[in-house]
Amino acid sequence: MKLVIGMSGASGAVIGVRLLENLKEHDVYLILTHNAEKVINYETNYDLDYVKNLASMWYSNDKMDVDIASGTFKFDAMIIAPCSTSTLSKIACGIGDNLITRVAAIALKEGRKLILVPRETPLSTIVLKRMYELSKVGAVIIPPVPAFYQKPNTIEDIVNYVVGKILDQLGIEHTLYIPYKP
Ligand SMILES: Cc1cc2nc3c(=O)[nH]c(=O)nc-3n(C[C@H](O)[C@H](O)[C@H](O)COP(=O)(O)O)c2cc1C
Repeated sequence: MKLVIGMSGASGAVIGVRLLENLKEHDVYLILTHNAEKVINYETNYDLDYVKNLASMWYSNDKMDVDIASGTFKFDAMIIAPCSTSTLSKIACGIGDNLITRVAAIALKEGRKLILVPRETPLSTIVLKRMYELSKVGAVIIPPVPAFYQKPNTIEDIVNYVVGKILDQLGIEHTLYIPYKP
């Protein structure tokens, strides 16, 4: 698959990294916001170059004169993980003032799959409304919440579950979580 992965400045950078690690067989175009880079450094031990090298190509968010900023660049899906409420709200309002929001706007206008993994709590009425609007126009919202019935032992278990749910949406087979069996 040809995929655009956006990482913005919400908590949960490890989700984006683990997603990239599970997409190595695919053609991946990575966009990192400035705040995503800060959060990766703050929350994880990953070197930024390691994260960037997981993708076929990476872009900084202020680059607009690039191939993926055009609707003529065909891709199968865009996933923003983690997605800040700021980036989510901009996308819902049709603002495309940086590369992530521009490519998300393209996904929506071209009818391509858009998956958002917003992390925030509690959620304000404003953000809930923006999520509702995005869901109405076809975006898939996957909040990174644990499945307690999976009885996670580690943060890694929780991250793998969330990444597995993203891969499910893409139709990519995985063994990141064990399906529920009563
Ligand atoms: C350590 C850290 C954690 C953050 N966690 C969140 C978060 O979980 N959710 C969120 O919406 N914003 C969070 N923020 C704030 C965003 O980074 C901020 O709103 C920023 O403007 C988002 O910009 P971006 O979407 O371009 O990355 C966090 C910021 C920092 C420094």
